[in-house]
Amino acid sequence: IIGEGPGREEDLQGTPFVGRSGKLLDTALAGLGIPASLFHIANIVKCRPPNNRKPTHAEALACRPLLQQQFRFVKPKIILLMGSAAYQFFTGDTNGRITKLRGKWLQAGGCDILPTFHPAYVLRSPSQKVHLWSDLEMIRDKLVELGYLEQDQA
Ligand code: URA
Repeated sequence: IIGEGPGREEDLQGTPFVGRSGKLLDTALAGLGIPASLFHIANIVKCRPPNNRKPTHAEALACRPLLQQQFRFVKPKIILLMGSAAYQFFTGDTNGRITKLRGKWLQAGGCDILPTFHPAYVLRSPSQKVHLWSDLEMIRDKLVELGYLEQDQA
């Protein structure tokens, strides 16, 4: 699971997605029966950009070796890209609009990749929650399809 960058709470604790966005994400994943042992959460950039602005391309590039190292450890099979920054920096499609791309599988390097909304966006626009939920259901179904999760566990 890839987000954008640490918020204030994450910066203080040194752990991704421990603030409000993280709580929403945890609730959704737990509600879908996806155990924490099946995922790893990372960010495109590893430090909080000033005033919580979107990371620059240079910042994303500077942090890329760290993300690559996380990939080498985790060896993900399924990648959830949350928000336009994660989508754009990860894929290099800098014009890609998350509203158009979310909920559609992409494939690269033997991984199934799903762009979705960022939980912080959903917190600001609660009517979009249904889309984040249905994308997470797609993740749950893919975990079942690939044999990481039992149908009745989910
Ligand atoms: N938003 C992100 O993109 N990452 C975090 O770790 C927290 C909030």
